[in-house]
Amino acid sequence: MYSIIATQALCALLLGGTFANSSPTLERDAALKTRATSDELTVNSIYEGPTGAWYENIAVRANGQILATRRDLPILELIDPATGLNSPIVVNTFSSDYAGLAGISETTADVFYVVAAGNYSVFEVDMTTFSYDSSAGVVTSNATVSKVAAIPEAGLLNGLTTANATEGIVLIADALNGYVWRLDVNTGNYSIDIDDATMKYLNTSTTTLGVNGLKIRDSYLYYSNTGNPIFSRIPVDSSGSATGAAEVMANISAVDDFVFNSDGVAFLCQNSLSTLAALVGSETTLIANSTILAGVTAGAFGRTSNDSEILYLTTKGGRFTSSVCCLILQRELILD
Ligand SMILES: *[C@@H]1O[C@H](CO)[C@@H](O)[C@H](O)[C@H]1NC(C)=O
Ligand SMILES: *[C@@H]1O[C@H](CO)[C@@H](O)[C@H](O)[C@H]1NC(C)=O
Ligand SMILES: *[C@@H]1O[C@H](CO)[C@@H](O)[C@H](O)[C@H]1NC(C)=O
Ligand SMILES: *[C@@H]1O[C@H](CO)[C@@H](O)[C@H](O)[C@H]1NC(C)=O
Ligand SMILES: *[C@@H]1O[C@H](CO)[C@@H](O)[C@H](O)[C@H]1NC(C)=O
Ligand SMILES: *[C@@H]1O[C@H](CO)[C@@H](O)[C@H](O)[C@H]1NC(C)=O
Ligand SMILES: *[C@@H]1O[C@H](CO)[C@@H](O)[C@H](O)[C@H]1NC(C)=O
Ligand SMILES: *[C@@H]1O[C@H](CO)[C@@H](O)[C@H](O)[C@H]1NC(C)=O
Repeated sequence: MYSIIATQALCALLLGGTFANSSPTLERDAALKTRATSDELTVNSIYEGPTGAWYENIAVRANGQILATRRDLPILELIDPATGLNSPIVVNTFSSDYAGLAGISETTADVFYVVAAGNYSVFEVDMTTFSYDSSAGVVTSNATVSKVAAIPEAGLLNGLTTANATEGIVLIADALNGYVWRLDVNTGNYSIDIDDATMKYLNTSTTTLGVNGLKIRDSYLYYSNTGNPIFSRIPVDSSGSATGAAEVMANISAVDDFVFNSDGVAFLCQNSLSTLAALVGSETTLIANSTILAGVTAGAFGRTSNDSEILYLTTKGGRFTSSVCCLILQRELILD
């Protein structure tokens, strides 16, 4: 059993702000395992984008700054929890050849790879050259952005994860085709890496999105499937190739991207359900159910001592505006 305590006061203290739409919620679903009654939870919206904004994915720099990809426009934004949350800094606006951005992952320190959608491509965003003046809110030195590869055979590229940072190998979920691409970011070479039945959407599903989020942990590639209510894993070697058979870890609906905490608990973003669930061992538990989580797309934990227990989440919004939100997951106890 996994118990989570959250306090809005802590979030406000850490982030130095006041929060819109603050609504503590704790709700349970008979389909998910219920938790101890003492658990409490707060979801805070830390930044609300303009109408129509769709935040698709998120990564956190080692210095704590948040990188958020927009799917409605080809823009990479930076939100700095340390200097206030009023408006994001635009890190890069990509060419209008791209309809938006999707998955993002770091390889070596402060070097990120991001999926550009539309004319599907992967770009390198080297943040080591980036700086900005936080008081003026202006970029003083740009990130170095370069195109790594165009993948015209792609159906719909979505999640991206690092398989081997030293070798420059990233894996990319092709949600429409239901398989995973392997890309060597040093050569631009790419090929279909893993093609498995657990990555396909069901032909009875209302969505044509299969494999969506990807993460490697302890020599397994874990992946969600939006159009088939399963969360799976497959063993992989050090360059991301499968070494065994896939295994379904849980039956769970509408999962977009997901993130592990340091204990190996997976937090699953249930986009169309406005909920966040956790997979602890083989049990799924409802963590949060909030209108703030409408269209929740992806998450990443803070990386500074101040916010390592804060889970930052992106949303595409529901009927209301899209946001980057903040959920504090302060581990109280782990039993069993
Ligand atoms: C989340 O809350 C909504 C509104 O109260 C409810 O309709 C829905 O069933 C809840 N979802 C879960 C998984 O409990
Ligand atoms: C792909 O790029 C071409 C121009 O290079 C542009 O006309 C087209 O709209 C782009 N497609 C998408 C889906 O963005
Ligand atoms: C950063 O790049 C943008 C877009 O190309 C440009 O307008 C701006 O002047 C650059 N900023 C700096 C500090 O070089
Ligand atoms: C990778 O790309 C390089 C340079 O284009 C090429 O020489 C090499 O044959 C490619 N390797 C594979 C395995 O496709
Ligand atoms: C849908 O998939 C099922 C199971 O794989 C198959 O039996 C059925 O023929 C498929 N239906 C359509 C319309 O493709
Ligand atoms: C990356 O590949 C190298 C071998 O090329 C290996 O030594 C290293 O352990 C791999 N890293 C990871 C994280 O698997
Ligand atoms: C998922 O559901 C299927 C069909 O109901 C069942 O056979 C399987 O054991 C379940 N898997 C998990 C990991 O709960
Ligand atoms: C943590 O918060 C304190 C107090 O707001 C601040 O002085 C410090 O710089 C922060 N540290 C990091 C690593 O963000």
